Amino acid sequence: MIYPEHVIEEIREQSDIVSIISEYTALNKKGSSYVGLCPFHNEKTPSFSVSEDKQLYYCFGCGAGGNVITFLMQKENMSFIEVIKYLAERENIKLDETYLSQEEVENNKKRGLLLDILKESARYFHYSLRAPENEEALKYLLDRGLTMETIKHFGLGYANHQFNDLYEYLKQKGYSDELLLESGLFLQGKQNNRMIYDRFAGRIIYPIFDLSKKVIAFGGRVLDGSLPKYLNSPENMLFNKSRQLYGMHIAKNSGAPYFILVEGYMDVIAMHQAGFSQTVASLGTAFTPGHAKLLKRHTKEVVILYDSDGAGQKAALRAIPILRSEGLKVKVLLLQEGKDPDEYLKTHGYEAMKALLEGAPSDIWFQIHTIEKQYDLSVPEEKVKFLQQSAGVLAEKSSSIEQAIYLKEISKAYEIDEEAFKAEMNRYYQQGKSQRVARSMAETTTRQKKQVFNNEVIFLANLYHYPNLGRHVQAYLRPEFFDEGLLYDLAKAILESLKSNQEIDMTYFTTHYPEAVEQNIISHVLIHKDQRYEDVALLQKMMTENVRRLNKQYIEKRLKETQDVQEVQNLLFQKKELDKLNIDYING
Ligand code: UTP
Ligand code: MN
Repeated sequence: MIYPEHVIEEIREQSDIVSIISEYTALNKKGSSYVGLCPFHNEKTPSFSVSEDKQLYYCFGCGAGGNVITFLMQKENMSFIEVIKYLAERENIKLDETYLSQEEVENNKKRGLLLDILKESARYFHYSLRAPENEEALKYLLDRGLTMETIKHFGLGYANHQFNDLYEYLKQKGYSDELLLESGLFLQGKQNNRMIYDRFAGRIIYPIFDLSKKVIAFGGRVLDGSLPKYLNSPENMLFNKSRQLYGMHIAKNSGAPYFILVEGYMDVIAMHQAGFSQTVASLGTAFTPGHAKLLKRHTKEVVILYDSDGAGQKAALRAIPILRSEGLKVKVLLLQEGKDPDEYLKTHGYEAMKALLEGAPSDIWFQIHTIEKQYDLSVPEEKVKFLQQSAGVLAEKSSSIEQAIYLKEISKAYEIDEEAFKAEMNRYYQQGKSQRVARSMAETTTRQKKQVFNNEVIFLANLYHYPNLGRHVQAYLRPEFFDEGLLYDLAKAILESLKSNQEIDMTYFTTHYPEAVEQNIISHVLIHKDQRYEDVALLQKMMTENVRRLNKQYIEKRLKETQDVQEVQNLLFQKKELDKLNIDYING
């Protein structure tokens, strides 16, 4: 961590979770906490609760939970450090650079300067687009159907034709050659004079924004038919192509039920102008798992809308498994008329596009149709091949419900015997089975681990929220019974607070466990009081079982580890005593 604990703590303490979350959802005071509609999932009755004293939130509906920092990390997609900086600024707390290592200070400085250079350049390009001598450039964009509003919305610009116009401009502002070269805006000649010139000269400029709307790179298009048509900034400390989607800075706030993935700049812009502000594109690079992860953070469903040519079709087939592996629902729309979305919108407009998007076939149907095109189904041998290949596609899908649905639909559509088709699919399925078995075993072990973990979390939550019973059982418990790290620390803190009657020191948990998953667990334990355990009999049963289980687990672990004969005897005795343990606690 870069900043020391006391600084983060000061920032967290001054940032009131209630007022910050109120900017996202209306909160009403109820008892000792505030409740409202959950900003993380759709709901009609409030199950989202914010605790002012603990400075934690928790949703009883979807399980989202954490502190003010993780709230902003998730809602605004910021990193931990970004949130700290944001809050520091908001609360007027000065972050002293002396907390940083030398290298971090330098990197920060460089990053800041690069961002400045890109911002200055974007302004310069945008301004140039309006200069009378560049009217050709503006005319190009207007002729392509963009409005002035859209041009401003996307910050489009033009890089003057003179080969080093921008270089001169920035140089005069005092930036060093080294930094300018690193910005990706310039190229350096290999001749003796090592001349530096503008990479994008004579091109229409598309600034690329990160999620906080800062310019981090550019794309540039020629005005005529010359090649290459598009150039992009090279990657540097600001720009990572495989994690960046063009249009995401706007799309993330679209609130749309599905996102649309297109191929390029102009498609994104045309789609947004038409009203589809949930459209994004990968930039001069194939679609990557990094892109899919980014999408997954903002939506559950993606419609791939690529060019209808062969390249577009291939790219769609490649993107499908990448999106699927993130658990996204995928549909594919390849336009038949008009090569790309931009052209289609010009002739057919918003409503027609919307109807196509909403009726787009699922990824599986898209794959089946693609296979179908390769064969002449009126020829029996070809139809057999088509069915074999289609069976292969279905066999790959992990969900058997999905398989069953598609078996039926496809058999019906192509007038084939469902049983024969199923047999074929099973044949493929068997082939891939050994791999799948290995995969599902791995899944089962993680699921089991997760289950144990969940038990522990629920147990600790009950211990904390039902302190009368908690005090009764604490004598049988030790922090060592829990996994090292967060659960150990939580157990220790809860057991101590049961003994001392003092509130838990939240500072410790915020600073030691800043990660969103950790804060989620903390808020689960400390806020989620499970009302079912108001039933004393149920609570006693749960406590007895867990105390027994945890003790046994620990004894067995010690038995494996220890060499000490005396300890072994003690442990065996304790183990026997455990069976007699029955936590009966009479309320009151
Ligand atoms: P397209 O050729 O489909 O471009 O390439 P487009 O977006 O429809 O552009 P217009 O309509 O001709 O202006 C799709 C994307 O591939 C990348 C760009 O990101 C482009 O938007 N590309 C294309 C390059 O990076 N370099 C190229 O030379 C061409
Ligand atoms: Mn195009």
